[in-house]
Amino acid sequence: MKKILAIDTSCDDSSASVVDGRMILSNIVASQNQIHKAYGGVFPTLAKQEHKKNIDPTINLAIKQARTNWSEIDAIAVTIGPGLAPALEVGVEKAKELAKKYKKKIIAVNHIEAHALSPLAIKLSKKKKEIEQLEKSLPSLAIVISGGHSEFILVDKIGHYQKIGQTIDDACGECLDKVGRLLNLGYPAGPLLEKFAKKGQAGKFTFPKAMTSQANFDLSFSGLKTSARNLISDLEKRDQLNKQTTYDLALAIQTTVFEQIAYKLERILLSQNLAQKLYPNRDFIKHLKKGQAIPTKINEIWLGGGVAANISLRKTIRKVLHKYQQLSGKKIVLKVPYSKKLCGDNAAMIG
Ligand code: KG4
Ligand code: ZN
Repeated sequence: MKKILAIDTSCDDSSASVVDGRMILSNIVASQNQIHKAYGGVFPTLAKQEHKKNIDPTINLAIKQARTNWSEIDAIAVTIGPGLAPALEVGVEKAKELAKKYKKKIIAVNHIEAHALSPLAIKLSKKKKEIEQLEKSLPSLAIVISGGHSEFILVDKIGHYQKIGQTIDDACGECLDKVGRLLNLGYPAGPLLEKFAKKGQAGKFTFPKAMTSQANFDLSFSGLKTSARNLISDLEKRDQLNKQTTYDLALAIQTTVFEQIAYKLERILLSQNLAQKLYPNRDFIKHLKKGQAIPTKINEIWLGGGVAANISLRKTIRKVLHKYQQLSGKKIVLKVPYSKKLCGDNAAMIG
């Protein structure tokens, strides 16, 4: 296998990595979280400035940690989008400069495709004979849930993708971050919301599940953000926004968001069941008995993106797959990136 140097500067993290096939030799991420915290989100021109500062040391460290050198590197992979234009530019310019200097070819990579394939990365310690064949996994359904994207993508084979559903407004992580900001949790709020949700009492607050009356696989999170804003301001007015209500709110928000993803996932799996209808309605599902569902062609779920680090999201998805197995007899495996670092933005997934 040939070594690739990969670069990602799509948003607020400057990252470089060296990979050997699906094996990750190094994965350096220089985070800008502390810098953007004050703005409650990513400030593009500041991100560009920081990328410029960080990119050379990040690349040098990635090569050093991988115990390699330029003579062993065959190509440079770089994110070309989607992302913040000023931020992306830094990575692309650096890739061009290095490609010219060291006479390497450039591989342009789509950031969402990289998140979708991130569960396929393999630990350096894994033995060759333990590496399973990819063919058995396909077709798969990639679920990319991050701060910028929320998408369901059917993968027939690597490079053949069909987007079958996506958010029509905010991304899932964006919604969590915006609600977190209202609760003064800092940026990004997702990890802290997960921590707080563990101390929350179930059922204290409930929010309506969006998009359940739409016969498609799309998602929507902006209505939840508005409901949460109204509730939070109401609690503040009544002087009831204390530690425990914050925990209860965190749990309610997280549950609502993840249940929406689960709801659409269940419908995607069951839609393969109906010859005459693409979208199974509530009645159909309610009356579906054990063993009655026709097994879908989907063999695996690949979960990627920053929010994929959330254990509760993984559990919610596993619950859907368990229920589906009872209905159809088919076991669908959930694959997640092998480390949390691989969920958020990183260059190894680009490689
Ligand atoms: O993939 P990513 O690093 O950047 C994008 O491509 O958008 O995702 C960042 C998002 C943020 O919204 C962050 O709050 C969320 O992922 N996130 C989490 C968790 N860790 C990161 N959301 C929920 N639970 C987590 N543990
Ligand atoms: Zn990303």
